[in-house]
Amino acid sequence: MGRLDGKVAVITGSASGIGRAAAIRFAAEGAALVIADLNADGGAEAVRDCIAAGGRAVFQPVNVENEAEIKAAIDRATSEFGRLDVMYNNAGLGGAVGPIEETSVENWDRTMAILLRSVFLGMKHAIPVMRTQGGGSIISTASVAGFMAGAPHAYSAAKAGVINLTRSVATQVGKDRIRVNCICPGLINTPLVYNHVPGGASVAAEFFANVQQIPRIGRPEDIAAMALFLASDESEWITGAAMVVDGGVSLGGNLFGANSPIPAPPAGFSGPSFRHRRE
Ligand SMILES: NC(=O)c1ccc[n+]([C@@H]2O[C@H](COP(=O)([O-])OP(=O)(O)OC[C@H]3O[C@@H](n4cnc5c(N)ncnc54)[C@H](O)[C@@H]3O)[C@@H](O)[C@H]2O)c1
Repeated sequence: MGRLDGKVAVITGSASGIGRAAAIRFAAEGAALVIADLNADGGAEAVRDCIAAGGRAVFQPVNVENEAEIKAAIDRATSEFGRLDVMYNNAGLGGAVGPIEETSVENWDRTMAILLRSVFLGMKHAIPVMRTQGGGSIISTASVAGFMAGAPHAYSAAKAGVINLTRSVATQVGKDRIRVNCICPGLINTPLVYNHVPGGASVAAEFFANVQQIPRIGRPEDIAAMALFLASDESEWITGAAMVVDGGVSLGGNLFGANSPIPAPPAGFSGPSFRHRRE
């Protein structure tokens, strides 16, 4: 018996990376999938992967900048598979990059449309269907960039928006048994990351392993495992949560360590500071 037997999910951005890994995992647990993405070739491969994993899947061409196309993906779930249990708003890209004073309004607005407005639209069109069915699970991909600095400005702002939109909408629809959660991935080795690293995926894996508390880069399957939990009934009492899955990268660096000017203290007790001064 699969953990998602009988469930139907739409996943945006599932032609590649995190979304594709989640689609395959969901399919292996018995779900039927609508693969919703701009990339038709990757989408067709994802459909084949889902069927090979034991599930059912169809590809729906979707640009998440377009409200009608997001609604069409949800309509495809109900027309093809009869229901919608999971709406996973995951499509994304880097968006506007560069210094804030050189960022154009067009690039800012497009980033917000793809990373934040699309999440609003996925919620807007999934909720009425889920309400008539008696419940459902909405999952969105935020990022640790939503509460850390260092990623592109517009990207960070949009992902912070996803986290609080999740919390806000969760307070509206809990009574309908609709759960609204998001996942905050850390550094995951997908084309979104490794296409920007000279040397590609293997160099990215080696470099980013060094900044994690758990010393390896994230894999799409790490996020898919959390998405599976949030999609399944095992998480039926969890809503409004931002689940951090990041190998510890958002914990920050160690204060004491090989590269720190502060030697690690021996076991004992420190302070108060006016009595305790290390020369
Ligand atoms: N990789 C990471 O380190 C990381 C970390 C935190 C959050 N994320 C988020 O995870 C999500 C998935 O990214 P990924 O790392 O798997 O990257 P990816 O590039 O492998 O996959 C992104 C998918 O989104 C699709 N997409 C992009 N723009 C679209 C649009 N306008 N309409 C429809 N589909 C569109 C792409 O075609 C692609 O299939 C994104 O929201 C990203 O911001 C990624």
